[in-house]
Amino acid sequence: NAVIVGIDIGGTNTKYGIVSDSGEVLYQNKIPTQEHSDFNDFVIRLTDAIKNGLEQLPGDNQILAVGIGAPNGNVYRGTIEHAPNLPWKGIVPLVDRVKEILKVPVMVTNDANAAAMGEMIYGGAKDMNDFIVITLGTGLGSGIVCNGDLVYGYDGFAAELGHVTINPNGRHCGCGRKGCLETYVSATGIKRTVYKLLADFMEDSELRGISFDDLSTKMITESAHRGDIVAKAAYEYTGKILGSKLADTVAHTNPEAIFLFGGLSLAGDLIFEPTIRHMEANLMPIYKGKVKILPSQLQNQSAPILGASSLVSKYLTKKPSIK
Ligand code: BGC
Ligand code: NA
Ligand code: ZN
Repeated sequence: NAVIVGIDIGGTNTKYGIVSDSGEVLYQNKIPTQEHSDFNDFVIRLTDAIKNGLEQLPGDNQILAVGIGAPNGNVYRGTIEHAPNLPWKGIVPLVDRVKEILKVPVMVTNDANAAAMGEMIYGGAKDMNDFIVITLGTGLGSGIVCNGDLVYGYDGFAAELGHVTINPNGRHCGCGRKGCLETYVSATGIKRTVYKLLADFMEDSELRGISFDDLSTKMITESAHRGDIVAKAAYEYTGKILGSKLADTVAHTNPEAIFLFGGLSLAGDLIFEPTIRHMEANLMPIYKGKVKILPSQLQNQSAPILGASSLVSKYLTKKPSIK
């Protein structure tokens, strides 16, 4: 069978899926990203893992093409350029390296753009022409679909909402700037908020004493569900910053919906309720009550994998294709 590989390179893990031509994820797995400070080592480990995954599948399968979503991935050049949360500095020739090893067509785009494509073709945005997907992982990514098309911009780097400024004197960002949205609203951002709250207030909290590396979004969510004041305040603060910023973002492309994807979005009401409340409070009257904030509709967090696979499949087959 002919299959397509979809890859989602993240600041923490790189997830890869083997996808059938009807858009079914037949196999999915991940490798840690940060362990590989050498880019070539990373590509070798990743392509080995993919070959291994292929062997796990029944029957005789052949890779037709590989689609990749990556932070600061450039669809025109096939590169990752100056990604704030990846170990490889500067510009890395991702498409060329993967092509050398797997000898099939390879494309890369921004990881959040891939998530938006997945949502558009297989998920909750199937009937939408105007929507935004926000990915909340190690960083904050966004894919903006406007008038039915993904917005790429002049040089392919449109829709970097993680790096709009919340506070010009705010937290240091991996991109070199200060106070970017992703330093507050992301898995890393909420951990920084928890640490700040623990330092500023004396409240009892089950999160006190946990090292930054050991702390996870899941732990913060579970603590908040148990009523932990610091964990609850961290979610409220995160939702406030995200919601207020989304009220601005709406003014650019007037989306029908904004989908939240990734670890932090799994916290449910803890994140959605304050985000919606603060967005509504800050929207211009023309937008009030008209913008839906929704969770990604793709099971098992597969939006970027499916989106990345569709990026290449549209050049190979007629279906699935981008509207
Ligand atoms: C990068 C984006 C990416 C996002 C999520 C940001 O730091 O600049 O390109 O989409 O993280 O990975
Ligand atoms: Na993007
Ligand atoms: Zn930044």
